[in-house]
Order: sequence, then structure tokens, then C-alpha cells
Amino acid sequence: MANTTPDISLNDGNTIPQLGFGVFQIEPKDTAEAVGRALKIGYRHIDTAEMYGNEAEVGQAVRASGLSRGEVFVTSKLNNGFHRPDDARRAFDSTLAALRMDYLDLFLIHWPLPTRYDGDFVSTWKVLEEFQRDGRARSVGVSNFQVPHLERLAAEADVVPAVNQIEAHPYFANEEVRAYGRAHNILTEAWSPIAQGKVLHDPTLIDIAGQLGRTVAQVVLRWHVQRGDIVFPKSTTPSRIEENFRIFDFELDDVTMDRIGSLDRGEAGRQGPNPDTFDYVPA
Ligand SMILES: NC(=O)c1ccc[n+]([C@@H]2O[C@H](COP(=O)([O-])OP(=O)(O)OC[C@H]3O[C@@H](n4cnc5c(N)ncnc54)[C@H](OP(=O)(O)O)[C@@H]3O)[C@@H](O)[C@H]2O)c1
Repeated sequence: MANTTPDISLNDGNTIPQLGFGVFQIEPKDTAEAVGRALKIGYRHIDTAEMYGNEAEVGQAVRASGLSRGEVFVTSKLNNGFHRPDDARRAFDSTLAALRMDYLDLFLIHWPLPTRYDGDFVSTWKVLEEFQRDGRARSVGVSNFQVPHLERLAAEADVVPAVNQIEAHPYFANEEVRAYGRAHNILTEAWSPIAQGKVLHDPTLIDIAGQLGRTVAQVVLRWHVQRGDIVFPKSTTPSRIEENFRIFDFELDDVTMDRIGSLDRGEAGRQGPNPDTFDYVPA
């Protein structure tokens, strides 16, 4: 079986590589090297955000790679302080300027912040619809949206988000939000796919990895892609960047998928903030 990353279809007709490279918590000074290495190995999808402070270095690495702009799928996200429509417009201009790109493949609202901005994330979403209409965002989506937030967009907006990027891993399967996405043609992107390393010492996962002759990280990433989700593990370790890319030349059978599924701890397994209450706005 060849190790080839599949492209999957979004609800707007565009496609996205199912495996990408995440750059959260990569220092700006280390970003160009890590992204350059990932592109050399074969990754063609980079997930950044204004909040990560490394958009400029992502753009630099894409340009230095020798690949054309059209060969690399680039996502960024609207930071939490910029939800008001005019701020969102300015922030999107700054993101494109930092990346030195004239369009993004995907632009997301990073967090819904339901307790901020009088609970209004709909007018923010309508500005992302604008970016898609003017061609500067090929696809638009959301991140950390819970079911009621998605229901509200469905009732009050025109465009259905192409993706919802949410925390998901074996300890927090996030099934209710994923099920809403499946039913409404919104693809799930699973952030912290290996729970920032916290699932790597799990005895069940170690047992499965041993039987298959794979690493735990590879088994977990494979579980995500067989669930149909998009993943972009982060690493600055060269051997791990390579290891995480090799997940399309083996398969997990149904029994193994179920064994991993049974590790779900529900809400107790969540590692990051709860989107219903998260209200962080950078100073
Ligand atoms: N939308 C959101 O709110 C949100 C939130 C969080 C993350 N994200 C996105 O999701 C991406 C991935 O999530 P994440 O960075 O939080 O966590 P992650 O990818 O689950 O885990 C990254 C951590 O695991 C280690 N690691 C990576 N591959 C490994 C391997 N094969 N073996 C052992 N350890 C390994 C890395 O260490 P080294 O780097 O030292 O190798 C790093 O400490 C982010 O980069 C970002 O793009 C989005």
C-alpha cells in the first residue's frame, strides 16, 4: 500500500489534504525550518493562526520550498480580539500580508466566544462569507464551535462552514459535535490529535501499536483518518515529522477501531478549554 495522503472534498467543491502539519506552539524562530522539513517530506497542508504568531515564517517556508502556491493548502484563523466586522476585515488583511499570500485555502473563526461580543459570532461569520465571495479565502470554516453555535449559523447565515476544527483524540472523541458535522456536511478537523502526547503511554494503544509494528502516534493518527477526520499533528522533531506522515500504508480493522473508540472519557478527557466558557482575548 503506497503512503499517499488523500485529498477529501469540502462542501464548497474544494478539496483538502486529509493530513497536514500544525504549527501551534512552534516558536517563530523555529517555524520556517519545521515547515520546510514537513514540505520536503511531503506534507502539503499547513495549519497556522494569527494567535500562534508564526504566520510570516509559514509563508517564508512555503516560498522557500520551491513548491508553487497552489500546491500547498494553507489555513489560518481569526484571533479572538477581532470579531467585530471591521476588525475582522483588518485582521484578515494582516494575515494575508504576514503570509505574503494573496489568498488562503481556508480561513476559520478560531473560537466562538459565546460570552463575548454580546454572544454575536454571526456577524463575524458573515464577514468570512465576504472573504470567500471575493476569492481571498477559497473556503471558510469555524473552530471550537459547539452544536448550538452551529445551529445558530444554520438559522442565521447563508454559507455552511466547510469545516469545524475541534479538540478530538482517543480520550475525548467529541462525538456529539462530530455527528452534527456528519449530518450537515461539515468536515471535522481534529486538533491535538495525539492529545499533545498524553495518549502515547496508554496500555491499550501500546498493545495495538506493538501488534501492528507501528508507533502509538501512527496508530492514533490512523484512527482519526479512518473516522474521516482531518489531522495536522505538530512536531519540531525531525524523526517524528517523518513518522507522523507515514499513516497511509496500513489499516486498522473494525475491532481495533472499536478498542480505540472505547478509550473515550467524555468531557473528562478534554485537555483544552471548553468553548462554551472560553473567553480569552489577547491584550
Ligand atoms: N483550533 C484550535 O483551537 C487549536 C488548538 C490546538 C491545536 N490546534 C491545531 O492542531 C495542531 C496539533 O495540535 P497540538 O499541537 O495541540 O498537539 P498534538 O499534535 O496532538 O501534539 C503535539 C505534541 O506531541 C509531540 N509529538 C508529535 N508527534 C509525536 C510522535 N510521533 N511521538 C511522540 N511525540 C510526538 C510534539 O513534540 P515535539 O514537537 O517536541 O516533537 C508535541 O509536544 C496544532 O499545531 C494546531 O495547528 C488548533
